[in-house]
Amino acid sequence: MVGTGYVGLVSGLCFAEFGFETLCVDKDQSRINSIAKGVCPFFEPGLDDLLVKHLNSTKRFSLSNNLSESLKEASVVFITVGTPTKRLENEADLNDVYAVAEKISENIVNYCVVVTKSTVPVGTTRKIKEIISQKSSSDKFDVVSNPEFLREGSAINDFMHPDRVVIGTENKKSEDIMRQIYRPLYLQKTSILSTTIESAEVIKYASNSFLATKISFINEVADLCETVGADVQDVSKAMGLDKRIGEKFLHAGPGFGGSCFPKDVKAFSATAKKHNIEFSIINAVNASNESRPRRIASKIKNRFNNKLDGISIGILGLSFKPNTDDIRDSTSIIIANELNKSGGNIKCFDPHAMTNAKEILPDIDYCKSAYDVCKGSRVLIIATEWNEFRALDLKKIKELMKDPVIFDLRNIYNETEVKDMGIEYHGVGK
Ligand SMILES: NC(=O)c1ccc[n+]([C@@H]2O[C@H](COP(=O)([O-])OP(=O)(O)OC[C@H]3O[C@@H](n4cnc5c(N)ncnc54)[C@H](O)[C@@H]3O)[C@@H](O)[C@H]2O)c1
Repeated sequence: MVGTGYVGLVSGLCFAEFGFETLCVDKDQSRINSIAKGVCPFFEPGLDDLLVKHLNSTKRFSLSNNLSESLKEASVVFITVGTPTKRLENEADLNDVYAVAEKISENIVNYCVVVTKSTVPVGTTRKIKEIISQKSSSDKFDVVSNPEFLREGSAINDFMHPDRVVIGTENKKSEDIMRQIYRPLYLQKTSILSTTIESAEVIKYASNSFLATKISFINEVADLCETVGADVQDVSKAMGLDKRIGEKFLHAGPGFGGSCFPKDVKAFSATAKKHNIEFSIINAVNASNESRPRRIASKIKNRFNNKLDGISIGILGLSFKPNTDDIRDSTSIIIANELNKSGGNIKCFDPHAMTNAKEILPDIDYCKSAYDVCKGSRVLIIATEWNEFRALDLKKIKELMKDPVIFDLRNIYNETEVKDMGIEYHGVGK
């Protein structure tokens, strides 16, 4: 596995769990050192235990920061490096991916299958093939696209029990090797789909963009609900019971964030544009989502006539979703930043994401618990729906806060119950 981020480390450990000898490589030496000591460089439920198990008691999992050396041993190389959005453009930045391809081209000894697991625009895997071909003969390798669908927060379970595995190949030899690798899943009847390389690359972006579209769709419906006296939770529940629609990803909130949806929506649209296709729907999703956290921040400011000076605002949750410490494109951070710039005194708490948040938002207060945040605050914003925020003691909150106003951006509280406690309540789409 080249890259020991959320995808590389999880996949590497899960493949070791399947019984394969796995070597995880990263150019970041401190990351490798930390993993070698049994410390995951990020929070992912269950990953510490799996890491310690494979470091201590199986001989199947090893680590290195020397990619050139590592490649000599490998029969299958998974590229799992990051593909963030380019600065000032919507395209995916493929520098890390192509840097790995260069190294592979220089160091192949025996035949190997080079697999793109990073999310990459259609055409990238062919480009990787071109790069490798410059220094290695074509009988020494094959390229495959095998996009990853795991979610942070449930990554191990998603890897071990995926809805489907997609394998994009251009010949039977590499397809057979990939099917052998995923055989443990095949035995548990996971759908393994063989496609062309191009289809596999498109499948990943189309899937993420479709899910993002559902979120933006219900968010805009929520805006209408707020003005006409409807309740978006009733609307989405009834919509979701229609099997053609499905209940997932119909929760109104502050917009989607994280390390995948925002960048993938942008990159998918940029790819289409390169091929003279105008993705009007995806473009609208991107625009709608980009403006959403700032609109939510405006709504909070409006409640105080746009005068936040001296108002103490508590924020619960900084990660882009529960069960991760990932704050990349987190809407909570955008909202915290907006309210901070507008003069609010921001206090916050997150069970796992505060260390990361401090690096980009150093000048707000970080508290030890949710109740600590409430102490003396006028406003409480539930920004990320960690389980531990779902059943807070409302009586205690009422006592700790001053004339409390709650903005529940994830609709996890019952409006009537909160209001009955004498607390002002604002959900989303209600
Ligand atoms: N995070 C997710 O939930 C998720 C899910 C599915 C797919 N993906 C995709 O998988 C890819 C990886 O995502 P991630 O979140 O795991 O990334 P990440 O940013 O967490 O980790 C990437 C790792 O790659 C390493 N790296 C970069 N260049 C390298 C090189 N030349 N040699 C060795 N190591 C190198 C970095 O040091 C870093 O540790 C992205 O394309 C992403 O879109 C991510």
